Amino acid sequence: MQLIVLAISLVAMALIAFTFLSAARAATLPAVVPRTDPEARRRRVILGLAALGVIVTLLSLRPWPHTIPGTAAVVNVSGGQFYWEIDTDTVPLGEPVAFHAHTVDVTHGFGVMDPAGTILFQTQAMPGYVNQVSHTFETPGTYRVVCLEYCGIAHHDMLNEFTVAAR
Ligand code: CUA
Repeated sequence: MQLIVLAISLVAMALIAFTFLSAARAATLPAVVPRTDPEARRRRVILGLAALGVIVTLLSLRPWPHTIPGTAAVVNVSGGQFYWEIDTDTVPLGEPVAFHAHTVDVTHGFGVMDPAGTILFQTQAMPGYVNQVSHTFETPGTYRVVCLEYCGIAHHDMLNEFTVAAR
């Protein structure tokens, strides 16, 4: 199945590349474009906006939640059908906590909800990998762990919780 999808993707990519190359070949430009040429000015504006878009996108990705800043505590999380195992029931308040998540069977979505029921952060949890996500809790209370990736008949039942408290 994966090979068929790969083959279809490669054919589609080849078609798109061929279309672009054909268009580029058809749009032959004079070797020297005067600066007053409106077409060239339009092209410079588009390139400038594209560059600006790339820069804004890169800058807005900070802070990147998957780089771990001076971690104060590590919490190991293991998922399986249909449970979350957490190696602690209390995590520190106001300090960066790194969650290391993996699973023993299929892909799950490790998600943490605050006491009001708002999703704070999530990361994929997969067998054979340890994914890391860091968070600094600002409010003490009971936080719920949920599964955010459909993983089977009792996906909705993959619940656990931990307490956030000052050390
Ligand atoms: Cu595990 Cu959904």
